[in-house]
Amino acid sequence: MNLDGHIGEIRDEFPMLKHWTFFDAGDQMVPGKYWLDAMHECLSLYESGRIEDVAPVGPVTHPFLTTTFFECIDRASKLIHAKKTEVTNMYRVMTASNLIINDLLKWEKGDNVVFSDLDYPSIPYILLNLQKKGVELRRIKNVNGEILLSDMEKNIDDNTKLVSIDRTTPWCGFTHNVKEVCRIAHEHGAFVYDDAIQAVGAIDVDVHKDNVDFLTTGSYKWQCGPEGAGIFYIREDLIEKFDPTFRNYFWADFPTGIPFALPDHDNIKHWNYPLQKNANRYEQGVCVTPILFGWNATLKLYEKMGIKNVERRVRELGSYCIERLQEIGCKILTPIEPEKRHGLIKYTTGSYESDKKSHSQFNSPPLGEKPIKVSLRSVGGVDGMRVSCHFFNTKEEIDELVERQKKLMA
Ligand SMILES: Cc1ncc(COP(=O)(O)O)c(C=O)c1O
Repeated sequence: MNLDGHIGEIRDEFPMLKHWTFFDAGDQMVPGKYWLDAMHECLSLYESGRIEDVAPVGPVTHPFLTTTFFECIDRASKLIHAKKTEVTNMYRVMTASNLIINDLLKWEKGDNVVFSDLDYPSIPYILLNLQKKGVELRRIKNVNGEILLSDMEKNIDDNTKLVSIDRTTPWCGFTHNVKEVCRIAHEHGAFVYDDAIQAVGAIDVDVHKDNVDFLTTGSYKWQCGPEGAGIFYIREDLIEKFDPTFRNYFWADFPTGIPFALPDHDNIKHWNYPLQKNANRYEQGVCVTPILFGWNATLKLYEKMGIKNVERRVRELGSYCIERLQEIGCKILTPIEPEKRHGLIKYTTGSYESDKKSHSQFNSPPLGEKPIKVSLRSVGGVDGMRVSCHFFNTKEEIDELVERQKKLMA
């Protein structure tokens, strides 16, 4: 789909865009009509009967095992170029991170974990607890908003069990060369966990090309979907390597389907099977049917738009935003090189105080002006305003942001 030619139609899917100049997908996306409509459809099915009867799978079902779940997995796997057996649904990055770090990986004294000072704290918070087991935390410091591959190389060694990255950091948009990170980590036998919530939905992520081990997302940011759904990816050859202590009985590898209706149903004999040999063995019972309906509608929109078309537009708007902000004397804190970023752009007007003032003026402008939604964010010495340029934004909106910022700086 040619996004430039359909931008009015696309923007109509997000009613809040009429009221705000919205550059905040990196925080939480405004609702899309497509997913609200799908959720309403699901709720109206609830009103007319049991959702279980709508799309049953097998002789006896549960609400969350509707065909919608399987459609979501199919579409989500295509979005990241994975096989559908490598993908399941997850709830939040935090829950999936706990699964990977505290359940799947077995830590020993002397192991180390490599991460950076630009990572979102939900993972470092889990890692901190590993110190009790004698695990060394190796935090790489950013250099001008960038995590250098040379620093990765220096820190990763044969005792590294895990390299944890935010594919795109939420603080300044720096985007890792994930393929290289994986190459370095794998040379030392370390796993790579890629928190890609700030990348999937904005750019074309190819998990096989990058050779990543684990990847997680959430649908409510750049993927423009509802909260409570997301992609959990595990590479095919790792699926059977782990035996999670979190046991989801629905994904037992039954020879004849879920045994609820068997005449001699026995709650041990008929359940005493290992977990299935696909990514669903890691699904943590987080399927909420209305949310799945909404997520499915979101993934359908992405299929229609084409992730490559989305990426092209996101990158173009990101570059335009940088150029225009530089023109008015703002300092760009995002690495300028296109391969190290996408549309998530961070800038400062010169000081935290003046950024804070601009942020509050953007949110509560004089009467008659639309609020501008951006985030004020600060970490690892990278302090300033975060502008998330997504496919539905326009150059005119960026001009408006820049003109308002210029006035505030005068
Ligand atoms: C990189 C990254 N990971 C994770 C999250 C959210 O994590 P959680 O769902 O664990 O709260 C965010 C939110 O801003 C984020 O930017």
